[in-house]
Amino acid sequence: THLNSFTRKGAPEPRAAEGGLRNDLLLRAARGEETERAPVWVMRQAGRYLPEFRALREKHEFFECCRNPELASEITMQPIRRYSGLLDAAIIFSDILVIPQAMGLVVEMHPGKGPHFPAPLVEPKDMERLTKKVDVEKELGYVYDAIRMTRTKLAGEVPLIGFCGAPWTLMAYMVEGGGSKTFEKAKRWLYKYPEQSKELLQRIADLCAEFLVGQVKAGAQMLQVFDSWAGELTPDDFRTFSLPYLKYIAAAVRDELSSSSVKAVPMICFAKGALGHSLPDVAKAGYDVVAIDWTVEPSVARHIVAQAAPGVVYHKGAAANEAGHRIALQGNMDPSVLYAGNEAIERAVERMCRARKGGFGGSGAYIANLGHGITPGVDPEAMRFFLKTVHRVSAEVAAA
Ligand code: CP3
Repeated sequence: THLNSFTRKGAPEPRAAEGGLRNDLLLRAARGEETERAPVWVMRQAGRYLPEFRALREKHEFFECCRNPELASEITMQPIRRYSGLLDAAIIFSDILVIPQAMGLVVEMHPGKGPHFPAPLVEPKDMERLTKKVDVEKELGYVYDAIRMTRTKLAGEVPLIGFCGAPWTLMAYMVEGGGSKTFEKAKRWLYKYPEQSKELLQRIADLCAEFLVGQVKAGAQMLQVFDSWAGELTPDDFRTFSLPYLKYIAAAVRDELSSSSVKAVPMICFAKGALGHSLPDVAKAGYDVVAIDWTVEPSVARHIVAQAAPGVVYHKGAAANEAGHRIALQGNMDPSVLYAGNEAIERAVERMCRARKGGFGGSGAYIANLGHGITPGVDPEAMRFFLKTVHRVSAEVAAA
């Protein structure tokens, strides 16, 4: 097979991998370096498309899977085992909605329907129902335990990604009480109660930062912030109600890690649907990696990011990146291509990777992924073909 046979004539010996990792492609790409092929992982890679996940879910309720570190670490490992040698990262099994739970709201997961809040925030006075001072260690320590247990199980095979939801996306769930087509309740808050909305967003942002720092201390080697509903906002509202909190989180996490003498880890910002208008701003928001969805042409994103943020130089005291590095990009195949057979997958991966087809091209600083999470109906073998094709094509691109 061509998979692991990539050798570059005259290339230097690969240096020892970082932090005891046997595969640090992800971390190198995130820091803007060239890699011998693109590292690849997939949002929601542990999920319902895997029969082994569905089997576990028959016996355990969704949030029980999140809260039980043995189960959560086992689910995290499922795709790593199935796609052994093909995935370059694990992402801890959990959910973005554990933060609203930690703030005191009840969140249920209804099979086939998604998340449901029996008592959402209807009016700003309902913020009084939220816990004033959340003890993150006590409320979310189970995630830290799951991270520690997963690091042991991974034994350095690939890095482990921690994550949280972004303040706007979490506020949207807390006010809507679940998913929504129009987000009219959450947007009514933004327009009718802008100051109280900002207060809520800031309270969430503080928790996000503390939670991410805790995940790094527990062993997360990279972080992603999911702003899945960023694209529901107007450009101006995105800059008012989402972007400032995304920036705040990146800075707060770096500050806090630095003052506790813990090395910074690369951070990924996924502001889904907002990059058509705000990519230059997101590129300067303090993240090492900008994740893009399928509505953004990779070559255009490369160009815009190179112009807007030629090098990230974080504030003094940040342990990493003091010399500055290129912003890396992550993404962005439409997950629905995975339903269309191997030929379509191959075509889409070619387009995604090759510069002459509008793709990311070959100068490194690139992490292959989908443009959003993998969906429940995908055949696990289609996922395998996607991963193998990314290995092959991105190695060809890097060698060219
Ligand atoms: O990526 C991974 O494999 C790690 C685990 C992970 C889950 N949710 C597991 C999950 C991650 C990173 C998330 C993030 C998440 N959760 C997001 C942001 C990413 C995105 O897709 O936009 C959002 C918006 C949520 C909220 C959420 N959780 C929804 C809307 C749903 C139901 C719809 C769906 O896609 O299933 C969930 C449930 C959920 N989270 C499942 C999984 C595997 C399926 C639930 C089940 O087993 O019944």
